[in-house]
Amino acid sequence: MNDILTYISNNKEKFLKELVEFLKIPSISSISSYKEYMIQAAEWLSENMKNSGLNNVKIFPTKGHSIVYGEWLDAGKEAPTVLVYGHYDVQPVDPLNLWDSPPFDPVIKNGRIYARGSADDKGQLLIHVKSVESYLKTVGRLPVNIKFLIEGEEEAGSNHLDEFIENNRELLKCDTVLISDTEWFAEGIPSICYSLRGIAFVELTITGPNRDLHSGTYGGGIDNPLNVLCWMISRLKDDYGRITIPGFYDDVRPLSKDERENFKKLPFDEDEYCKDLGISMVNGEIGYTTLERVSARPTLDLNGIYGGYIGEGAKTIIPSKATAKISMRLVPDQKPDDIISKVENYLKNIAPPTVKIEIARLHGGNPVLVPLDSKGIKSAVKAFQNAFGKEVLFTREGGSIPIVSTFLEVLNAPSVLMGMGLPGDNIHSPNENFSLENFYGGIKVSALFLEEFSK
Ligand code: BES
Ligand code: ZN
Repeated sequence: MNDILTYISNNKEKFLKELVEFLKIPSISSISSYKEYMIQAAEWLSENMKNSGLNNVKIFPTKGHSIVYGEWLDAGKEAPTVLVYGHYDVQPVDPLNLWDSPPFDPVIKNGRIYARGSADDKGQLLIHVKSVESYLKTVGRLPVNIKFLIEGEEEAGSNHLDEFIENNRELLKCDTVLISDTEWFAEGIPSICYSLRGIAFVELTITGPNRDLHSGTYGGGIDNPLNVLCWMISRLKDDYGRITIPGFYDDVRPLSKDERENFKKLPFDEDEYCKDLGISMVNGEIGYTTLERVSARPTLDLNGIYGGYIGEGAKTIIPSKATAKISMRLVPDQKPDDIISKVENYLKNIAPPTVKIEIARLHGGNPVLVPLDSKGIKSAVKAFQNAFGKEVLFTREGGSIPIVSTFLEVLNAPSVLMGMGLPGDNIHSPNENFSLENFYGGIKVSALFLEEFSK
């Protein structure tokens, strides 16, 4: 192990140089005009995986963006197999004017690297490629068999990955899935995430008149689609922060007393939280604490709304159309398809007959609870303790990684959510960044994990 750890400390600059190259590629999966950058990112990654010593590196096309695969399977039949999952796609960057430096021109400041995708998830996925490299370039072998499955559509809902996994069960067969795409509870508190929320994403479009109209000439005589949209949205939640869609909470597994006790023990400072966000107070579903609300309770949020005139100054019109992007975070045992049907029915029911409504389903993903007694979790706990000399905290997180439930259902493999992100990483926001200490520390943790898991 010493050779490997020495290799890691001696190659920090090389690893960082590679991360910078990777981050320079603007691989935004949800914007179709970025397709060529998606290809570039997949190619960069596959080259890097080959150079790191992985075999059989391939780029698998899908109906959407490609999947990068690689393996090293020479540890023998007796040795366990680890499947590393990650994503090379990133979120859009706007509002661009709020970035202190360009999102695809990485800048290193105060021990952090600033760029879109630095923490989510290029920096975190590269950790495992570099850990493999550190083994193969020193001792020439790994203690386990390893496979990499890195997709390009996570930020857009992983719409083609289920099919790929179902069609490639043999190729992806493994004993555990290892994922670094979550974050620690706080800086200095290494955490293993045991629960992620699911997601159901819809886009609601309201159409009224067949063209934009003068709001003086027609105003008052017909329904304004933008007003209708806002009114409908206002009916999705009540004054107590509860979602009003009939049946929405039917399958929500209540929080156990133990779990609620555990939440109370977490070192969470609500004043600090508000200060960091620049808000004066928190708000949410009645009867639950902030930590419960953001990780263990379902939500409904607008992610964007548009329609009418949004340019400079005033323009007096009744817009023909208005659209809202609405996402719901789900908890066990809610099902995205069921929730989307319930939302659809409700919206259709409350919509006035004066407008036409369309509901597009953008994506869905199941919530997950990872079993805590798996060998992978035990190995991760030891790896964290060895790397940082600290107790690990088990956390529930509010974000989603839609494919985790598929790994369990289709490959029968539990996941280990060994994230290296921090709450201040600004993922999905301007000035996303990744702590370099966690980047290098992560490579060490990954190497120690593989060793532990082989035992
Ligand atoms: N890395 C995040 C998920 C995450 C964020 C987990 C914070 C834990 C804490 C992941 O890349 C992500 O953002 N996923 C999307 C999925 C969605 C687009 C289907 C999300 O949660 O919004
Ligand atoms: Zn993300």
